[in-house]
Order: sequence, then C-alpha cells, then structure tokens
Amino acid sequence: MREFRDRTIYFILTDRFNDGDPDNDIGKNDELFDPEKKNWYKYWGGDLQGIIKKLDYLNGMGISSIWITPVFDQIDYTISEEGHIMTGYHGYWAKDFKRIDEHLVEKDEDTRVFLSDNTIFDRLVREMHALDMGVVLDVVCNHSNPHLAGGRGELYDDGVLIADYRDDRQGWYHHYGNVQNWNDLRQVQRADLCNLSDFNEESIAFRNYIKSAIKMWLSKGVDTLRVDTVKHMPLWFWQEFTGDILSYKPELFLFGEWFMGGAYDDASVEFANKSGMSILDFSLQQAMDRVLAFDDYEGFNHIANVIGQDGKFKTATELVTFIDNHDMPRFLSKRNDPERLRMAVDFIMMARGIPCIYYGTEQGLHNDTNWGNDPYNRPMMESWDKDTTIYLDIRKLSRLRRMNPAVQKGSMLTKYLTRNIYVFSRDYMGNVCLVALNKGGAETIEVLNLSLPDGAYQDLLGGKPITVREGKAQLSLPPNSVSVFSQLMAPVTGQTVVTLQVNGYPTSYGEDIYVTGDCPELGQWDIARARRLDYINSNTWCADIPFNESAGKFIRYKYVVKKENNLKRESGTGHYRLLPGEGNIIWKDDWVY
Ligand code: NOJ
Repeated sequence: MREFRDRTIYFILTDRFNDGDPDNDIGKNDELFDPEKKNWYKYWGGDLQGIIKKLDYLNGMGISSIWITPVFDQIDYTISEEGHIMTGYHGYWAKDFKRIDEHLVEKDEDTRVFLSDNTIFDRLVREMHALDMGVVLDVVCNHSNPHLAGGRGELYDDGVLIADYRDDRQGWYHHYGNVQNWNDLRQVQRADLCNLSDFNEESIAFRNYIKSAIKMWLSKGVDTLRVDTVKHMPLWFWQEFTGDILSYKPELFLFGEWFMGGAYDDASVEFANKSGMSILDFSLQQAMDRVLAFDDYEGFNHIANVIGQDGKFKTATELVTFIDNHDMPRFLSKRNDPERLRMAVDFIMMARGIPCIYYGTEQGLHNDTNWGNDPYNRPMMESWDKDTTIYLDIRKLSRLRRMNPAVQKGSMLTKYLTRNIYVFSRDYMGNVCLVALNKGGAETIEVLNLSLPDGAYQDLLGGKPITVREGKAQLSLPPNSVSVFSQLMAPVTGQTVVTLQVNGYPTSYGEDIYVTGDCPELGQWDIARARRLDYINSNTWCADIPFNESAGKFIRYKYVVKKENNLKRESGTGHYRLLPGEGNIIWKDDWVY
C-alpha cells in the first residue's frame, strides 16, 4: 500500500483550470456559459481534457495527487441569489451523482459515464496512474442542489428522477430552513447550508444511493476522497459511510472538509479521530495567515502553538494542510508578497500533514476584486511557467517528501522560536529534516539539540551549508528565507513492512514505547529484543517494522513502556493480527489500559 503521506496534492477547480475541449463549453444550456469570462458565476470552459493536457506540467512540479472539484452532473439552469445569476460551474450543486456533467466530457453519451470505460474520466485516471499520480475526487453527501431562487432540489439516479425537494413524500430531505445558529451543531447538521437541499441521512434509500454512487466512482480508479461539508452531517453517518466505503476499497485515503476545523475546534478533532477519515487543517491555515500574511505580533508562535496541539489527534501527520482554497481569498490577495507566499508553500511542504497546493499558487495567480473573496479566488489559470520559484521549490520539496520518511511521518520539534524565526526538525527512525524559516531581516543564530548527526549539510533550497558539531550549528538566515537540510537513512525493507502506530499513552520524560510479541521479528516476548517506536507527539508513537519469517501469518503483540529498567505493559491479551504476505501496511492501535 502506498503511503499517502508521501504525496503532494494539487487542488484544481476544474472549470477554471484549462479548457482542453472547446466543444463541450456550452453544455445543455448556453445561458450557463460565458465565453468572455466576465461573469464569475458562469462556466468558463475548463474540463478534464484540459487537465490531461497539463499532466506533464503538474508531474514536472512533483505533484502526486490531483484533487478535482465534484464531477457529478449539475443543475442545468441558473439560480438568482444576492443579485447574481449563478450556476453549478464549481460542481457542488449536483442533480445526478451517477452521471458526469456534460461540461467535462467530449461526447454527450459519455455523461452516462458508467456505461463505458473509455470516457475522458477513464482516460484521465489512466494517464494519471501511468505517471504514478492519484486522483482525489471531491464528493458531496450533505446536499444536492439549491431549492430556492429558481432551484428545485431534484435528484436523479442515472437519469431517473428519484427525489424532489418540493414534493418529498419519501423523506429524502430535511426541511428545516437555513441554519440560524451556527453554534448549535445539531442544527448545523439538520438545517440547510445556503438553501442547499439537505439530505436526510435517516433515509436508508438516500444512504444506499449515495454510497452506491461513490463506490461506482471508486470502481473507475479514484484513489482518494475529499469529502465536502462533513461538519453538516452527524458522526454516526460518517462512521457508517467510511466503514462501508473502506470495506469496498480498503486502501482508500479520505479527508473531510470541516469548515474551520483543526486543533482549535474540538468537534472537528473528535470527527478526525472517530470518523475513519482525516480533515483539512484550517487551524494551521489560519495561523499561517496571521504569521506570514498579516505579521501578527506573536509571529511564529501562532504556528508553533497549533503544532503544539498535535497530540489531540490520533494521526496529526495525516491532516491535509493548505495555504488557501476556493472558499477564501488567495494568499496574494491578502498580502501581495511573493516571497511570503513562497515561505508558506515551503512551510507546508515540510511541516507535518499532507500539503495541498491550490491551483495557480505556483504562478502567483490572484484577482483582488472584492478583496479576492469567492468567486474572485477562482480566476482562470493564466500561465504555465515551469521556472517560477514556487514551481521549482515544490519540485524539490515534493521529491524530498517522497524520499524522506521524516517529512511523511515524523515528529515536528521546535529547535528555535522567535516572532520572526522558526526552526523545526522532522525526525523519524534516524531520518531528519531540519527546516529554518526567517521572516525578518538577515540573522545568524546558533541552534542546539539538533538531531542531525555531526557533519556538513547542504541547504536544499540553495542557501548556505551548515556544519553540525555535537548537535549544534550556526545558521545564516537571509531575510524572508527558508532553509532545508536533510539526513536520509537506508529505507526499511522486508517482505512485509508495517508502519505501527500506537495512540493514547502520553509518555513522560525518559519513557519510551516498545513493541514485543510472539514472532521472531518482535523478539518472542523477550523484552531485550523488543522494537523501539519513535516519539511523534504526546499522543503518538510510531515505527516501520520489517517482517520476513512471519509474513502471511497471525501475530500477537503488545506495547510496553520502558524507563530505564522499569517496564509497564499494556493490559489485555495483546493485539492479534494477520500480517499480509508482502508489501507495506499501516496498523494503528490504541494503548490498552
Ligand atoms: C464546501 C466547498 O468547498 C464549497 O466550495 C461549497 O460551496 C460548499 N462546501 C457547499 O458544497
């Protein structure tokens, strides 16, 4: 199983990326398309062929996963709201989850996307897989389309009408009006978001429909799901949904959009820990804004404070990190400063979590009308220059992320912190990445307690090399700079390699977690031969453990805390699991008290 944390995601709002096929621009209703690209609420022509044509560009940047906005068939009429004529160009107003929208495909018959395996969608998946890139499909379970201002909330199952918001005898929808109190989570989950027809998850017909539709897309080779509006449906629904979807495709990675979720929103943390999917890290995004866009007085402390909360999550290293997206102004609309944008990009490439780059970031794309708010944060892609500083940085750092497990799974420990300087180290099983950010003037600092072994290291971003002696080094940091130093160990190899993770035992100083078990690889219960895990954060220890003799067999194991000669063993009879015969797998356990 490919480790998802080694990926760099690129998020494309398909209608605004590249028009590869002008023949599909008009769609079923010409009123929805604006050839002059002046009405920001209409279709502008971007399509799947347009993405295929730019795969080399993206692959050259080191992008390994592409998140595309929902492809489901959208309403064919306009909605008048807030004085605008709006369309479903963004993909979040579906009417048929089992068809693809006609603006994306080549031929009308291809909208029945599941009748053929040679539609443009299939070709996109095939071409991406050939480049070892994964498809992240954006899926919506919370709602179909608007039911006011001209909308009807109609829902189709491969062209057959199955529900209508205004005549909802079978109870597919909630009918509670718009959310009034955003602090009342129960209301947020039952009432409508912006007049969108809100599905009633109690309806088994609805649940069967949405799960079967999403499985059909997975059967086409989709590798990852970005799940819309997870805050707006109850946890039990997501647990059933994720469980079912994972039974269908066990290797799938899912991440949800809990608007403004992250360490500072407890309900979102609970969701991330219990739903079976990760979330987008809005807390870190907001902190980056304060530090790099707005120069808040506290400076880098804002970011370090978010990272300091990582122990709230079971797997903070799986949070999806981002600088901006289609629901907020782009960074450059907040601060038109390419150097700071570059710092933000380099930071998420190296920080814990899986980085997601919003399309056009590498080209400095932005439009500042109305402070760059939606829809002005969704301009058409204008340039495809492969030499921009950010393009080249992503190229270098995505390769480093791919190679160095410390960037994927490691701890993130602060080594030096002031308002203007943040030096942190990513550490995992002897692999290290030392990262220094300086948003102030030029400075030379001495950093202590480095985990890099003694020796000389090049800055992968072209700055001055450093020499580490007894864990200390002098760093010369130019203004608005990022420096990256890496130490790589030989990869862990074995017939089967398990990335073993244990949560829920907050170790205190001097305590280390080991794993012991009945198989030779885990020392046959001999503590002297137990395997040590690595500290990731206050909630998580992790290690990659190779298995040869026991590959394909059942093993039983337990975690043990060691402090000098004191041992504390987990309670219970141990974890009992079947090792796959070969390949890589991730096992996550909770400490048994
Ligand atoms: C969140 C999406 O990111 C946003 O663009 C969309 O309008 C809403 N969910 C509703 O689907």
